[in-house]
Amino acid sequence: MSKESLKMEMGLHSSTLAHKGTDKKVCRYVPLQAEVIDIDVESSNTYLISLRPLDEEDETVRIDYSPGQFLMVSVFGLGECPISIASSPTRDPLQICVREAGKITQGIMASRVGDVMGIRGPFGNGFPVEKMKGRNVVITGGGSGFATLRSLINYIADNREKFRDVTVAYGARTPQDLYFTSEYGSWQATGIEVGITVDMMDASWKGNVGLVTSLLADLNPSPGTAALCGPPMMINAVAKDLVNRGFLKPEIYISLERHMKCGVGKCEHCTMGPYHVCTEGPIFSYDVVGDLL
Ligand SMILES: Cc1cc2nc3c(=O)[nH]c(=O)nc-3n(C[C@H](O)[C@H](O)[C@H](O)COP(=O)(O)OP(=O)(O)OC[C@H]3O[C@@H](n4cnc5c(N)ncnc54)[C@H](O)[C@@H]3O)c2cc1C
Ligand code: FES
Repeated sequence: MSKESLKMEMGLHSSTLAHKGTDKKVCRYVPLQAEVIDIDVESSNTYLISLRPLDEEDETVRIDYSPGQFLMVSVFGLGECPISIASSPTRDPLQICVREAGKITQGIMASRVGDVMGIRGPFGNGFPVEKMKGRNVVITGGGSGFATLRSLINYIADNREKFRDVTVAYGARTPQDLYFTSEYGSWQATGIEVGITVDMMDASWKGNVGLVTSLLADLNPSPGTAALCGPPMMINAVAKDLVNRGFLKPEIYISLERHMKCGVGKCEHCTMGPYHVCTEGPIFSYDVVGDLL
């Protein structure tokens, strides 16, 4: 393969390098370096990390992505794993929200401001935001899956007039496990209805306690499109509930997690039935994956 065609495969076509500092970049095979510029603690085991992607000469570049896509994030000496992009393409900086699971996520969370990690991507298909425009949208998340949905929520908040009724239903284990608590007010200010529930309350909690499906019953959203991300049991229950409410299976979009290695459809680590979650997903409609969940 010639150097120029390799660059194009890598999303590094020479024209994308013409104006440093403003370029949007895709980086499929060779990680870009990204500097940690901020870290927010979302819960005891979850950090929201802001990144500044750097190109060869340490100049800032912009990654071109849509809500629901993910990056392969690498920690030097440990390896890489898929992490959803938690920021919206309508806002800077690029952010990931990482929950401690094993050695790579621990390595990412051990980073400090000024440290550098590797990022490849963006990968995956993302939510079909163009199809969601002009429609009612229900966004339902459970646990750490809510990080993936934050990108879509902030994208909608920044393009609010393009969507009809928008409802967010989010459940976490305890009040301490809730992510992005400082942002709910700004979503509500754009007319997004926000419902929150926890499995186990503490003395400080005055809100809902119980399953996300009970929360949806209270919110009673009108049929339209839906975006789901969370534990498989929650996804199954919510998707069935939405169908009973009149949502169509092809309009219920589910973000799935599978173990991944390459992110580009080559290694077969992420297969689910006939699908590669890394390239044909991670967002699938319920009519396509309902029987595989
Ligand atoms: C599209 C996508 C988006 C994601 N987004 C995020 C995100 O935004 N934030 C986030 O924190 N995480 C996210 N994840 C999950 C994250 O990639 C995984 O948790 C990853 O495995 C963490 O790597 P680790 O080395 O820290 O943990 P690991 O060592 O991989 O351990 C994580 C868990 O997986 C189990 N496990 C390890 N290997 C296997 C295997 N081969 N088969 C089955 N189980 C195994 C372990 O026992 C453990 O319970 C995402 C995953 C996908 C696919
Ligand atoms: S992660 Fe390698 S094929 Fe999907």
